[in-house]
Amino acid sequence: MKFVFKSFGCQMNKLDTALVTSALTEAGFDLTENVKEANVVLINTCSVRRHAEQRVLSHLGHLKHIKRARPDLVVAVIGCMAQRLGDKLLEHEAVNIVCGPAQIPQIPGLLTGAIEQKKKKLAITGKIRRPTPNAQADALERFESAADSSDKQIPGQAFVRVMRGCDKFCTYCIVPYVRGPEVSRPPEAIISQIKNLANEGIKQVTLLGQAVNSYEYKTGEKTYSLADLLAMVSNVEGIEWVKFVTNYPAEKFLDDILQVMADSPKVCPYLHIPVQSGSDKILRAMNRRYTASEYLGLLDRARDIVPDIAIAGDFIVGFPGETKEDFQATVELLHKAKYRNCFIFKYSPRPGTTADKRLEDNIPADVKQRRNVELLAEQEKISDELSRSFLDKEVTVLVEGPSKKPHLDSADNAGNPQLIGRTATDYIVVFNGPTLLAGDFAKVKITKTSPLTLFGQLI
Ligand code: 5AD
Ligand code: SF4
Repeated sequence: MKFVFKSFGCQMNKLDTALVTSALTEAGFDLTENVKEANVVLINTCSVRRHAEQRVLSHLGHLKHIKRARPDLVVAVIGCMAQRLGDKLLEHEAVNIVCGPAQIPQIPGLLTGAIEQKKKKLAITGKIRRPTPNAQADALERFESAADSSDKQIPGQAFVRVMRGCDKFCTYCIVPYVRGPEVSRPPEAIISQIKNLANEGIKQVTLLGQAVNSYEYKTGEKTYSLADLLAMVSNVEGIEWVKFVTNYPAEKFLDDILQVMADSPKVCPYLHIPVQSGSDKILRAMNRRYTASEYLGLLDRARDIVPDIAIAGDFIVGFPGETKEDFQATVELLHKAKYRNCFIFKYSPRPGTTADKRLEDNIPADVKQRRNVELLAEQEKISDELSRSFLDKEVTVLVEGPSKKPHLDSADNAGNPQLIGRTATDYIVVFNGPTLLAGDFAKVKITKTSPLTLFGQLI
């Protein structure tokens, strides 16, 4: 049996895709890129914005036609949209299986059942905000620690989930309703998983959580925080770089985390810490529990403790009620924050969230678009200036492999392809070199820069 996997959304989803792929391979299925030769199509979906869901629906529309010609093709929808829409999604002509994020251990069985019986199957969580039942939590834990989470496309790297779910309830966000309550994984399970990955040649692990700095695991006498975990991961032999995403801007644990970053050369000096808005009024309406000046205070502290830190953020523009003045406050915050880069999104109302229930989506699309473009342009100037400071400097990168896009300055390559690598601070670096460097560290001298990418020569 052959399967195709199409994955949308964030790193959490990419990790689930890797875990399910590994479990299916273990169960005797073979991964293929080609829908024509596949018996099963899996789609891992995202619900964070309407646009993400529309892309999935249009993909399902396409599969519907393929299935009319090949009724035996099994289509399984997993991920956040599966949990959010449940049986409504199952009604779709193309869909055989709808499986939520907490039910992924059941996928191999569900697929085998669907191939044999041709019945539609729904596997999602009924009351998602109830505490996760022990049996389900154990099944997820076993599934997670047994599967291989290394990134097959990017050698040497792996993602490791340290917690599931989210309890922050930002008013715009669907995540707490589709990924359920926060649950931190036991540190010994995480460490033993990372030791296995290191034995297989993994050099960089990225610890994942929706608000990863909220990680907290209590055993008898000790409570483990993310700072403890980072220190433990740094001690795993073979692991050279540790990254972690994403952080919630809260006082809790942040100083300790920054201290470990300052003390351990393995913990990468990169902090992704979304602010969402620079207006206190909007932050309140979003239920973000800080003010703009408190947030900037956190960034100051981060730079005091880790002077070479690179900081990245997220913004939402066009939240209900965002006036010109509110947006201006966001622009001002962006200038003060001096992000290395940031992600900017237009507000998209999500059914069932507090913002959608209580606030009218009253910022016109063209205003959202203008604000998005303006903020991006401001950030580009800052990113460009920061990038330029790397000119003529040497950087260390973890090489990912051949660059997918040909870049302009491919002049001197002596037969070597263009590779891309990433620095500890998450800059993409393009240079010519032998493909066998993929998965290893290399030193590159920077000769040219653009806002988000550095170009250079292998040393
Ligand atoms: N609309 C627009 N952007 C959103 N995000 C989360 N929910 C929404 C929404 N409803 C953004 C936030 C978050 C990132 C992952 O997606 O900026 O940090
Ligand atoms: Fe959503 Fe807020 Fe949780 Fe992030 S912290 S996943 S934005 S609710």
